[in-house]
Amino acid sequence: MPTRTLVKHALDATAPADAILLQGWVRTRRDAKAFSFIEVNDGSCLKGIQVIANATLPNYAAEIARAHTGAAIEVRGQLVPSQGQGQKWEVIAESFTIIGEADATYPLQKKGHTLEFLREIAHLRPRSNLFGAVFRVRSRLAYAVHQFFQERNFFYVHTPIITASDAEGAGDMFRVTTLDLAHPPMTEDGQVDATKDFFGKKTFLTVSGQLEGEIFAHALSNIYTFGPTFRAENSNTSRHAAEFWMIEPEVAFCDLEGDMTLAEEFVKYLIRDARTHCAADLEFFAKFVDKDLLARLDFVLEKPFVRCSYTEAVEILAQSGKTWEHPVAWGANLQAEHERYLTEEHFKCPVTVYNYPRAIKAFYMRQTDGCAPERQTVAAMDLLVPGIGEIIGGSQREERLDQLRAGMALHHLDEKAYWWYLDLRRYGTVPHAGFGLGFERMLMFVTGVANIRDVIPFARTPGTADF
Ligand code: 4AD
Ligand code: MG
Repeated sequence: MPTRTLVKHALDATAPADAILLQGWVRTRRDAKAFSFIEVNDGSCLKGIQVIANATLPNYAAEIARAHTGAAIEVRGQLVPSQGQGQKWEVIAESFTIIGEADATYPLQKKGHTLEFLREIAHLRPRSNLFGAVFRVRSRLAYAVHQFFQERNFFYVHTPIITASDAEGAGDMFRVTTLDLAHPPMTEDGQVDATKDFFGKKTFLTVSGQLEGEIFAHALSNIYTFGPTFRAENSNTSRHAAEFWMIEPEVAFCDLEGDMTLAEEFVKYLIRDARTHCAADLEFFAKFVDKDLLARLDFVLEKPFVRCSYTEAVEILAQSGKTWEHPVAWGANLQAEHERYLTEEHFKCPVTVYNYPRAIKAFYMRQTDGCAPERQTVAAMDLLVPGIGEIIGGSQREERLDQLRAGMALHHLDEKAYWWYLDLRRYGTVPHAGFGLGFERMLMFVTGVANIRDVIPFARTPGTADF
């Protein structure tokens, strides 16, 4: 019995084949007098392969009408050069079997659907052209992430998903508890008694693996994490998800400069990988999603990214002659409108903004030496790209114990909760730096898909957690 041939291998064949076995789903069927054309897709690539089922096949009369769009089908036959236009190979069926029926209620009939509708059928949308392409690219780039770091002698560290520490000190965390919410145990002063909870303390879903990553960078030198991350921020935008995947390298003996260079190399590596290994899927996006996609990706590959300090960025924004919804002033955070102006209108290229005001950035970032007190900055960097804004946030970390404690005090953090983090500065501390790349934002950039809900299999956003 022949083993299964994937459609992508059949389409890439270099010679005809006598007995092949195809398994997949019917995309379309056209019936002529003496035969039917069935387009079979198995998800291995964008295209389907054309199968010709002759009316002389023994089960033709009984079965062909069941080969509806969406039905699972198995075909045995010959791979032969195609007579028709647009494809090199087709399959002459010697037998076909309907494995799983789909009737006329199957929602993915040939006509185009809106992305909003497809989100409601997230259990079926991977079978559409667009989402098949998105999730093949997602898989390929996840592989490329590991390749990039493994080639550079980084070790992959699995940081915990349940954590008791707030890595960003921003407080947007999901609580993890097994307490009976209707009747929680209470302390004498009327608070919920977290010591009676599963872990004996308050716990949360992680917002970042960075702090644990730093532990491992102080042992293995170069590490990265790649895992799910959770933020309970109530931002209903096309770029925010409550559950997303983040890649976080952490490098010992590295400063902000080295960090920015690594980030740039990483982003370019992923783009190049997709250009090489996902060519057909990217062409599909360029045709149906974003016609400038390929030119933009190639442009980004060629150009060195601009580096611009926060202070310079504020000057550029102030002198732009634009009216901003969020006023521009030294000390205020850059908003999406500012980020997009810098990359899309001013520099017209990806921009790394660095050295941000200390007060608006996380407690662990390294204080820049020699600043005027009212203009104290930290060695932070954000990589901004056209169309999306921030895809990477990173920094050189504060490796000096006293300065780190001062940063924690500034952000009103309890040192006791971070005792182990402070220990890293007591025992063999070194300059070190790292960053986080939002995997979905990278996928949006590479595919041109405009909404984060459409690059993650099952989106978790405020008010939605279906499937
Ligand atoms: O800038 P952020 O918050 O940085 C950190 O978490 C650091 N601990 C990273 C580090 O230095 N190791 O997040 C990093 C990136 C952002 O640039 C963005 O791409 C993505 O994570 N991100 C989100 N993606 C989707 N939905 C959200 N709600 C996101 N929040 C951040
Ligand atoms: Mg950030």
